[in-house]
Amino acid sequence: MLRDWSDVYLIGIAEIDQQHQGFFAAAHRLYEEILDREGKNAVVEAMAFMRDYAEQHFQTEEAFMREHDYPGLKEHMQLHVAFFRRLDGLEDDLMIFGPSQDLADRALDITQDWLIDHIADEDMLYSLHVKAREPRGNAA
Ligand SMILES: [Fe+2]
Repeated sequence: MLRDWSDVYLIGIAEIDQQHQGFFAAAHRLYEEILDREGKNAVVEAMAFMRDYAEQHFQTEEAFMREHDYPGLKEHMQLHVAFFRRLDGLEDDLMIFGPSQDLADRALDITQDWLIDHIADEDMLYSLHVKAREPRGNAA
């Protein structure tokens, strides 16, 4: 199901929160392009955009965690790698079977739903870690 952005997904680190919203928008765009049967090119483009966006966002997060000596960095990086593996699978199926409602739903599951769970469970952990170390709130 397509879900709207909500501020409950904010983790309190401005740059990363902004990127999460951009990630969310990219997930919506990918979903919509898959459902719009007109344009295969648009699906390919939306997929490429999602991939680039995720790469940049994960780099920002990983640099941030490294900078703040986050002990869960390695495990968190593995989740990012797993995300790309799922995205690869979706991309392959889109190329083989073409766009469908099923694949659009799967795109949302892999991108938007994954992102929401990831923010709530994993990103919140490093945010709390950083805030615990910097009680005056200079986290960003
Ligand atoms: Fe993350």
